[in-house]
Amino acid sequence: MTAGQLAETAEALVAPGKGILAADESSPTIKKRFDQIGIESTEGNRRDYRHMLFTSPGASEYISGVILFDETIRQSAADGIALIEIMQSEGIIPGIKVDKGAKPLALHPEEVVTEGLDGLRDRLEEYATLGARFTKWRAVYKITDDMPSPACIAANAHGLACYAALAQEAGLVPIVEPEVLMDGDHDIGTCEWITEEVLRSVFAELSIQEVELEGILLKPNMVISGKDCPEQAGVKEVARRTVRSLKRCVPAAVPGIVFLSGGQADEVATLHLNAMNKLDEGLPWKLSFSYGRALQAAPLKAWSGKAKNVVSGQAAFLERAKANSAAATGSYA
Ligand code: 13P
Repeated sequence: MTAGQLAETAEALVAPGKGILAADESSPTIKKRFDQIGIESTEGNRRDYRHMLFTSPGASEYISGVILFDETIRQSAADGIALIEIMQSEGIIPGIKVDKGAKPLALHPEEVVTEGLDGLRDRLEEYATLGARFTKWRAVYKITDDMPSPACIAANAHGLACYAALAQEAGLVPIVEPEVLMDGDHDIGTCEWITEEVLRSVFAELSIQEVELEGILLKPNMVISGKDCPEQAGVKEVARRTVRSLKRCVPAAVPGIVFLSGGQADEVATLHLNAMNKLDEGLPWKLSFSYGRALQAAPLKAWSGKAKNVVSGQAAFLERAKANSAAATGSYA
């Protein structure tokens, strides 16, 4: 795999009007989502739910790639066809979450560092054989009066960069995901400077590890008010501040920035992305989506674990996918 091929995959993932579906919830996370609608998290239910999403008719018009969880990349549908083959036949690029989750950071029990570097080279090789073409690693930063600590910022940046280097070595595009959480009562200005500090540390480490920026995608949080902040910034302010932070911190060589939704209501996540693309500032990178909850909340509810609801679940998914596709070009109305 050459650097040019990595860049080609990265660019395909942010083709105009296309974005990524993050369907890589770990088993405990998908259980939490299923609990909310009263479905048992069995292997069969997880497979049927994800099969419904991946086979939504025409999804590839809006969705360039899907991030899978380890279980899903090995699963076949009830009729025996591998889920990954179904995606490939639709022209959807398969990706895989490769981190092993956020664990308490040494000497900083309130903070987390993402683990998973041990044995990663072998796992990446296997995922490439299974058909994955891109990967994801998520680092998590909490905002309080004294967090994130310099230790948290440094440890996570180092992990993200070492992961990205290994992924590129295996011929897989790394999605680099530093997520500053929206939990807390901090204002949007605090989110802004912490996001910038985090992004600067991540790109400094990517540079030390000699990661090819043309062959990555960045998956950041938006710059947004804390969930419990009494003053909630409006759509235009979120768009303006997010784009300003990205311009300050993200090199022009990066082909695309695909936001996480992070707990924003699905419609709000669409409006924010749309407003950024409407700014029309001649940005060097594409701005698109790699949403989990903002794409899945509606179809999960519509499906509710019943085979008879598959068509309405798919309709709900396609509605969100289409709206975000429009937002990725600033044409959502
Ligand atoms: P959300 O859009 O639900 O934040 O999920 C995106 C994701 O992939 C988190 O790692």
